[in-house]
Amino acid sequence: MEPIDAPLVQRIEACIEQLFVPPDEAFAQNLVDADAAHLPSINVTPNQGKLLHLLAKITGTRRILEIGTLGGYSTTWLARALPRDGKLVTLEINPDHAAVARKNLERSGVHGVVEVQVGDASELLQRMIERRLQPFDLIFIDADKPRYVDYLRLGLKLSRIGTVILADNVIRHGRVFEDHPEDPNARGAKAFNLAIASDPRLDSILIPVFREKVDGLSLSVVQSLNDPSAPM
Ligand code: SAH
Ligand code: DHB
Ligand code: MG
Repeated sequence: MEPIDAPLVQRIEACIEQLFVPPDEAFAQNLVDADAAHLPSINVTPNQGKLLHLLAKITGTRRILEIGTLGGYSTTWLARALPRDGKLVTLEINPDHAAVARKNLERSGVHGVVEVQVGDASELLQRMIERRLQPFDLIFIDADKPRYVDYLRLGLKLSRIGTVILADNVIRHGRVFEDHPEDPNARGAKAFNLAIASDPRLDSILIPVFREKVDGLSLSVVQSLNDPSAPM
């Protein structure tokens, strides 16, 4: 893939952030604490956080499922779009990440609507499906990329018609469009993109997201719950 004009794109991103993402002490401290606890800096960008927040608001979302919490940065953006009686369930395999997230969510004042569940996302999702949990209005997938297709399959079982399904890191600087990506994360995201593009239950698109490199957010709406792979 061709290099993009990184300085220009970064300048534009900074200008958008300056206009639409006012400085916020809770978000700033969230990232400082995540860094101090040696969490990787792989949270969504501020502009992408704002986009997630707006998507939740636009859809009148009351129930959110997030897969991959890290320090709770994207969690906070999403939770702040919820009404007071809304609910966000976020899944995190690493107890150290979950501990940082819980502290951050409390400081952000959203801990009342957020439940952090610690464990492997596939197992936690399976448990929710077995308990016949009420469907979610919005699902944000952002954990281990090689299992994105699995998270989509399980997430659909926790959806209703109209549920919005989002996934982070679906462009990986264009590596997802190579025939055989070397990087397992790009391979996972590529398989996910093919799945959402071809699944008749979904209507989808990818939105490029600019950081140091180009990555992306997928956006899907559930338009049917008839599983094409299920036996008749
Ligand atoms: N959504 C966060 C970033 C998440 S990074 C934000 O933008 O702020 C991905 C997270 O997924 C990491 O914290 C990692 O520990 C977690 N993760 C990886 N594999 C997982 C699994 N199998 N189940 C649950 N969480 C997992
Ligand atoms: C990376 C970025 C992410 O947003 C993520 O969820 C996982 C990994 C990365 O750039 O390596
Ligand atoms: Mg991500």
